[in-house]
Amino acid sequence: MAQGFYISKPVGILAIILGVGAVSTIIALSVVYSQEKNRNAETSTAAPSTAPSAVPPGPVTTTTTTASTLDPTKPWNVYRLPKTLVPKSYKVTLRPFLTPNNQGLYIFTGTSTVHFQCVKPTDVILIHSKKLNYTNSPQGHMVTLQALNGSQPQPGIVKTELVELTEYLVVHLKEPLVADVLYEMSSTFQGELADDLAGFYRSEYTENGVKKVLATTQMQATEARKSFPCFDEPAMKATFNITIIHPKDLVALSNMLPKGPGVPLPEDGNWTVTEFETTPVMSTYLLAYIVSEFRQVERTAPSGVLIRIWARPSAINQGHGNYALNVTGPILDFFSQHYDTPYPLSKSDQIALPDFNAGAMENWGLVTYRESALLYDRQSSSSGNQERVVTVIAHELAHQWFGNLVTLEWWNDLWLNEGFASYVEYLGADHVQPTWNLKDLMVLNDVYRVMAIDALASSHPLSTPASEINTPAQISEVFDSISYSKGASVLRMLSSFLTEDLFKKGVASYLHTFEYGNTIYQDLWEHLQQVVDKQSVVQVPHKVNDIMDRWILQMGFPVITVDTRTGTLSQQHFLLDPNSTVTRPSPYNYLWIIPISSIKNGAVQPTHWMPGVEQSQSDLFKAAANEWVLLNLNVTGYYVVNYDGGNWERILGQLQTDPLVIPVINRAQVIHDAFNLASAQKVPVTRALNTTLFLIRETEYMPWEAALSSLSYFKLMFDRSEVYGPMKRYLKKQVTPLFDHFERVTQNWTIHPQNLMDQYSEINAVSTACSYGVPKCEKLASDLFAQWKNNPQNNPIHPNLRSTVYCTAVAQGGEDEWNFVWEQYRKAELVNEADKLRGALACSTQVWILNRFLSYTLDPNLIRKQDVTSTLSSISSNVIGQTLVWDFVQSNWKKLFQDYGTGSFSFSNLIQAVTRRFSSEFELQQLEQFKKNNMDTGFGSATRALEQALEKTKANIKWVKDNKEAVLQWFTENS
Ligand SMILES: *[C@@H]1O[C@H](CO)[C@@H](O)[C@H](O)[C@H]1NC(C)=O
Ligand SMILES: *[C@@H]1O[C@H](CO)[C@@H](O)[C@H](O)[C@H]1NC(C)=O
Ligand SMILES: *[C@@H]1O[C@H](CO)[C@@H](O)[C@H](O)[C@H]1NC(C)=O
Repeated sequence: MAQGFYISKPVGILAIILGVGAVSTIIALSVVYSQEKNRNAETSTAAPSTAPSAVPPGPVTTTTTTASTLDPTKPWNVYRLPKTLVPKSYKVTLRPFLTPNNQGLYIFTGTSTVHFQCVKPTDVILIHSKKLNYTNSPQGHMVTLQALNGSQPQPGIVKTELVELTEYLVVHLKEPLVADVLYEMSSTFQGELADDLAGFYRSEYTENGVKKVLATTQMQATEARKSFPCFDEPAMKATFNITIIHPKDLVALSNMLPKGPGVPLPEDGNWTVTEFETTPVMSTYLLAYIVSEFRQVERTAPSGVLIRIWARPSAINQGHGNYALNVTGPILDFFSQHYDTPYPLSKSDQIALPDFNAGAMENWGLVTYRESALLYDRQSSSSGNQERVVTVIAHELAHQWFGNLVTLEWWNDLWLNEGFASYVEYLGADHVQPTWNLKDLMVLNDVYRVMAIDALASSHPLSTPASEINTPAQISEVFDSISYSKGASVLRMLSSFLTEDLFKKGVASYLHTFEYGNTIYQDLWEHLQQVVDKQSVVQVPHKVNDIMDRWILQMGFPVITVDTRTGTLSQQHFLLDPNSTVTRPSPYNYLWIIPISSIKNGAVQPTHWMPGVEQSQSDLFKAAANEWVLLNLNVTGYYVVNYDGGNWERILGQLQTDPLVIPVINRAQVIHDAFNLASAQKVPVTRALNTTLFLIRETEYMPWEAALSSLSYFKLMFDRSEVYGPMKRYLKKQVTPLFDHFERVTQNWTIHPQNLMDQYSEINAVSTACSYGVPKCEKLASDLFAQWKNNPQNNPIHPNLRSTVYCTAVAQGGEDEWNFVWEQYRKAELVNEADKLRGALACSTQVWILNRFLSYTLDPNLIRKQDVTSTLSSISSNVIGQTLVWDFVQSNWKKLFQDYGTGSFSFSNLIQAVTRRFSSEFELQQLEQFKKNNMDTGFGSATRALEQALEKTKANIKWVKDNKEAVLQWFTENS
């Protein structure tokens, strides 16, 4: 699935902005890629009393066993499938009913046949099944079974049962199955077409005032079993013959093209039977099927691949699918070249769904998206929206080979699958938007963002032993930002020291070797090593796996301290909170093998390798009295750098006199690293603040963004204290020239920059100026908003500035402004626009308005389920909304947990968001109490987030205590 912490770039920006509303948006969009799994234990899987007509009549199964005793010698008490049976092929027929039955339930019915081979004799068949009700065979069993080799004795069934805990259908046999024999097992069943965003589910929306229902799927990670009985593990690859029975006026889509036109269902001509081509050998989690009235735009690529973009008819009519259509062909071409492998299927469908919890899902040949991640409208989408669309598409299409054609053996290696896609998405997107400098953004959006988490003592290594990831909840938990963003960061580092060309060759060789199969991460290292060994241009002084194991088997990353008087380097595990204790042992004692690039007075120096030892020395890092040295050119290395005081002063001096000598990414790095080192008490906080002084003359996006995101921590810690006044004055002073610059280059906000980075910088200028009270900015926002409010048909606000203008206007306004925005939100046709409006609604400064907004999140007719956690996060980023949300979360934990808690990645973001300002003993106590009070309910996928929040709160308390005085004084002196 697409990225865990896909923190959308555009959003990253907005986030910082708004004094009030925006930090939240980060979270809103960080949900992007994550998935939701709803595994509320349902109590019964017995069949209904009145079987619908599509299900052959027959006695209904009611046997259900709860694995309460959990004898681990019984295979059905073990979450992993035994290695006795291997599926070869399935034939699955499903019929979703898009109107409720007479009990008010939306259901689907199905039949499934699986061919599997016995590899080891066994007298029990385990196949995954979740929340499905089976129709019994004449013999009274949930399945029928036969050997396909004619000469074999036919296996007899003792009994069949469902084990809820481990989600199995268990078939007990009279005699063991025979090795090497192929068997066929069939069943008839029905399931609920729930609105739970998991498995085969329904999505509802209104089009022209009419309520519509569609049926769609989200299988990753363990929900295919909720749609039909299957061996639901990624290494259990098989071919699938999917048939969908659907209302005749709707379209059915699946991974493959239909074999031919649909035919009427013999017993009811209002239904059509659409049979799809057999899939290649593939994993169950990549299956997809959708029944809807959607329409498409399409074209055939020169390679012959049919490319289609599907969405609500009105979105297609308004051209919102055109951008996706235009970029898909070139991105597919890019990846076929990059991987040296043609696109494996004959078609590529991509579809925008109104209800979708993840950002997007890479189902093979039928990629599903949130609307905001696929649809784009020239008139009202911002550049950030556009960037998001192109990078998410690139991410998902990258998976069509890496992940789908070659699949990791088990979920413990998810980091390689998602880290890889999160890295190459930038390459794919850069290919179609070559002037945007997208690759640079990875430093802010992945490297720095994940460092903030990976620098905690509670972090964890990228790679986990397979034996530790078993239950669906454990599987959900690996979909975190470490897997996505740290995975991407270390692969980028690897690619950078190998060179992109060798990296690409190694990946292609890996894909050729393992196509249609499964791998472990070591397989990739091996193929990269082979490529390195075959040439002599690029020298790598260590084995690829020796280098990489240190980055993936131990958590965290190093800080390198340079003494430029002697040229000595030393490395140390970097911890944001110097008082935290690391309890997790490392096989490498928290030492890394590090490729170190550097510049001295503007001149790039050769790469130096620091072996896995504490200290090394090189004259490369020695500087004379008038020289400065800067390590980690363009931040391709996953580490932070500290220097002796003299070198710091010389770097800051260079920034003050002629900043352009230092590459733009490294100007951002100086700021980022200094602030991180200050948190870790490795440099005084005033030195970090000093790195922001040069910004008064800086107009580039990256350095500003690094500063704003570093300072957002100060804002969170101090926006309820006396430090905030001077801080606000300082930022107002620093940002005013930036605001004036853009006022000039945009000719008073009438034209906007072409270059993406300049557009982002413009957004930062306006959002920062407005949130720190630059009067000209506030006036700009309220004028634009008033123009729009007077003539709602005609929105004069440039899409890039909408989030800021809306938020500023709502913050300055009252009920009237809020209601206007709410009305526009309800009417918005385009999700991009709706998301901006929804974010702005959280910017109100009136408690009662915010409380009313909070209560709306409990009503799915007002706020879609998929948007609930992000809405809560938005409100809590508002200094006034924070306590309201915290109270709300505490009092509604049970319900929130039931609805969203058991697998949703965004859920952990909620905990993170709502505790973000915690920095007092009182808040710590509240959090501890919250943990105690809800032990029974549990925290599900937010368990780790809660531990992190406790740790972070303690660190905040100490940080505020240690730094408040110095910070207050610095802002006072410099404002
Ligand atoms: C699926 O279709 C293929 C191709 O027709 C066939 O070889 C395979 O046996 C089918 N699978 C099942 C379970 O019927
Ligand atoms: C399955 O059976 C249970 C128990 O009878 C029932 O509550 C549930 O609604 C059934 N599900 C479907 C989709 O028929
Ligand atoms: C098919 O649909 C028509 C029009 O809605 C309805 O009158 C008819 O009864 C339906 N046929 C069956 C077999 O349900």
